[in-house]
Amino acid sequence: KKEKLELVTQKIRPFPDFPSKGILFRDICPLLKDPEALTAAIDLFEEHVREAYPQVQQIVGLDARGFLFGPLLAQRLGVGFALVRKKGKLPGPTVSVAYTLEYGKAEVEIQADAVDPGQKVLLVDDLLATGGTLFAACELMKKQKAEVLGCLVVIELRDLNGLERLKPNSVFSLVQY
Ligand code: PRP
Ligand code: HPA
Repeated sequence: KKEKLELVTQKIRPFPDFPSKGILFRDICPLLKDPEALTAAIDLFEEHVREAYPQVQQIVGLDARGFLFGPLLAQRLGVGFALVRKKGKLPGPTVSVAYTLEYGKAEVEIQADAVDPGQKVLLVDDLLATGGTLFAACELMKKQKAEVLGCLVVIELRDLNGLERLKPNSVFSLVQY
């Protein structure tokens, strides 16, 4: 477990002043490039979910980098995957929620039939910053009457207080800065 975490941590690359001055961007591309490290990350998610949320029925991934991890985890668990997208990308009847970001503003959207009422879901993203994105996704789940068991992220940026924003929902992260 410690070795797996080490593999993951080594493959997160910091970029100062991206995408704008003052932001220290945590880049997950090296993690995706390394099959061993990526497997380790999904292993750690899977272990946590099997222990803490064995009742999970659906993984919900956040646009765009939640799509890199969510489906891999869903396959491991033998459950389905649903997409929360930036507004305007999904066809058919949709539901949306507006939110603010560490560096911008946006609106997230889900297809009305993507999750079922009462369905037990876990939200997956690459990174927790202010928590605005995951909070909006939680609001979407609430609108659709799905039950959020918790949130999973590869990286948590502690200074930005995302955990506080998401309360009472819990967040599990692999790496914290
Ligand atoms: C990033 C990141 C998370 C979100 C975290 O995505 O992948 O989804 O910001 O920030 P928050 O906790 O303050 O909401 P971004 O909006 O940059 O979009 P992308 O995944 O499409 O690049
Ligand atoms: N790094 C990577 N992605 C992000 C960040 C960051 O610091 N903040 C919001 N999304």
